[in-house]
Amino acid sequence: MRLMCASANPDKVAEIAEILASCDVELLARPDSVPEVIEDADTLEGNARLKAAALADATGLPAVADDTGLEVDALGGAPGVWSARYAGENASYEDNIDRLLAELEASGANEAAQRNARFRTVVIVRWPDGREIVVDGVCAGTITAERRGDSGFGYDPVFAPDEAGGRTFAEMQPVQKHAISHRGRALRALADTLGTQ
Ligand code: IMP
Repeated sequence: MRLMCASANPDKVAEIAEILASCDVELLARPDSVPEVIEDADTLEGNARLKAAALADATGLPAVADDTGLEVDALGGAPGVWSARYAGENASYEDNIDRLLAELEASGANEAAQRNARFRTVVIVRWPDGREIVVDGVCAGTITAERRGDSGFGYDPVFAPDEAGGRTFAEMQPVQKHAISHRGRALRALADTLGTQ
């Protein structure tokens, strides 16, 4: 099966290709002629659908897209769907982490037990005729008081998954992170679904 990939991030594309190779999916890069969509839906699923549908409509091939958010209980689920833009439209990863730590401090959630959070990824495969597969993956953990580790990206330095013995995602090797991560879980769920079709 040939699947257009909405993401242009090389690390994500490699991860998606590696996991979907197990069910004979050939991942195709998004043509430059297809513009990026504005991700203005108010749910992860809505944003993933916008990206997948735009690509499927433009190319006539099925397309896969994902969207991820970090949900922090003490902040009522924020930043959630706004994770990439938490500190503003052109915010850097550092700006977003600064805001997250400041909001948690302001909320009085200073103990680890008050800093529960989870990453959630929604992945959609969409066919040009409107058929869809929708799967998700979740990784639960806590937000640390300070940044730790140098690998990964985004909120990795302040997210300690429950299954990692206190390490943050940024203190793990990519292969260890992918084994328990939200995106890894969502993609394996997709591979399972595609493999049984
Ligand atoms: P996207 O939907 O994958 O582009 O993710 C939206 C935002 O969530 C990114 O800009 C990152 O800030 C954050 N994010 C997504 N996945 C991860 C991850 O695996 N680790 C840390 N942050 C992530």
